[in-house]
Amino acid sequence: MTVEHHETDVLIIGCGLAGLYAALHIDPRLRVLFVTKENADTSISWLAQGGIAAAVGAGDDPELHLRDTLEAGAGLCDEAAVRVLVSEAPREIEILRRMAVPFDLAPDGTLSVTREGGHRHSRVVHAGGDATGRETVKTLAAAAGERDNIRFWERSFFAGLLRDAERVTGAYVWSGGVPCAVSARCVILCAGGAGRIYSRTTNPAVATGDGVAAARRAGAELKNMEFVQFHPTGLYEERMPSGRAFLISEALRGEGALLLNAAGERFMAGRHELAELAPRDVVSRAIAREMTRSGHPCVYLDVTAKGKAFLQRRFPTIYAECAARGLYIERDRIPVAPVQHYMVGGVATGLYAETSLPGLYAVGENACTGVHGANRLASNSMLECLVFGRRCAAHIGGGAAPRGKAEIAALPGWQGGGDDTEGERAAIRAVCDRDAGIIRTLRGLERGATEMRGILDALQARQTHGRDSLETLNMASAALCVLESAAGRPESAGTHYVTGA
Ligand code: SIN
Repeated sequence: MTVEHHETDVLIIGCGLAGLYAALHIDPRLRVLFVTKENADTSISWLAQGGIAAAVGAGDDPELHLRDTLEAGAGLCDEAAVRVLVSEAPREIEILRRMAVPFDLAPDGTLSVTREGGHRHSRVVHAGGDATGRETVKTLAAAAGERDNIRFWERSFFAGLLRDAERVTGAYVWSGGVPCAVSARCVILCAGGAGRIYSRTTNPAVATGDGVAAARRAGAELKNMEFVQFHPTGLYEERMPSGRAFLISEALRGEGALLLNAAGERFMAGRHELAELAPRDVVSRAIAREMTRSGHPCVYLDVTAKGKAFLQRRFPTIYAECAARGLYIERDRIPVAPVQHYMVGGVATGLYAETSLPGLYAVGENACTGVHGANRLASNSMLECLVFGRRCAAHIGGGAAPRGKAEIAALPGWQGGGDDTEGERAAIRAVCDRDAGIIRTLRGLERGATEMRGILDALQARQTHGRDSLETLNMASAALCVLESAAGRPESAGTHYVTGA
């Protein structure tokens, strides 16, 4: 099959917040090409509810934001990166306001700020009540659409990085059913997370670990892959055929919602000084234990102390989604259980999103800047996309970066699609659910890694490489990184909790 050749200056993989914000800060003399499997409104960022953390409220300070981030990260944050994150946060919010992101305002016209888990101050700004991701991405996507230097290839599948001996030189992409080799001065991976390696996740179907897997195949350094964040409160539904759990934002607890067990008793008070607002890993483990102890498949979130009008205004998305399921949250307790939510680790990057491979940057969930340590503080992820997206653009600059000589070689057995790997996907999810969940054992992790190697080998031996099997290959690769990294850390830290059993 013939491979079409294309050229750009900056190639961005993924069309969520990280990619859009970076693109809008790139020197407009450079040509930017987005390659995205679907489009902006199917990105992980689009679904973000809670908000963006920034010390913009009265009495708050970046130093206090730093302290909470370090504490949530369980001693494993890169402090220099966290300093950059928290000190640049207020400026990013200001830039977004100038770009007309419709943040919610308090009656006095200042930004409305709330609390989430692990925050000792109200510092989470939000938009559309509980639709911060959607409102932000919508605004930035519209701005990017107006730029002459930015082009989008939607419904195009990124199949792997191109590199020569020195640097990354572009990527293989399937676009309109045609295999393309796109040469670029640099590639920014903004491909999001890998939540689909678990059977229950808040992530959309596109979260198959494509960025991390491609970076690994190209030889980039990965970091902290053992840390997988489970959100304490995914809406619990007995049947969840799509595998996507609807998120019940932590902001509900920020506004006073309480966690109750099946007997209607609070169980977080006394376990942590912040009770329901303890860091996510602490709350998720407490819920998991409560579920095991009681044999009940979920716990409950009680926000009935708030009135209907407040809940409809402050949490319109959550209110409507629950009502569509016959749950009226001013009256009914919400059944919730922990679900996979965020990959804390990823492609190792420096303070300007640069990876270990020249010509390759990574921003957002598929990157590991070190700001999250072993457990991400709530609402620091959209912030990380902004801060490191802008820094990445600054690092790329406007000059003519050297362009390497791409070694164009077709992937073995490239085809237009039509393959079906649902059996392998189910096997990947079963191993991750069993061995790489909230509570792990070293023996389980080693067993899981061995099984995952077998799945990956079998997938690699297949000669069908349509979108479905390439995604599945990426899932197996990301899952193996999680299992191997976790097996290599015998002690518990943050989201990586190991018991002796
Ligand atoms: C939430 O709204 O609870 C999620 C926010 C986040 O993941 O930081």
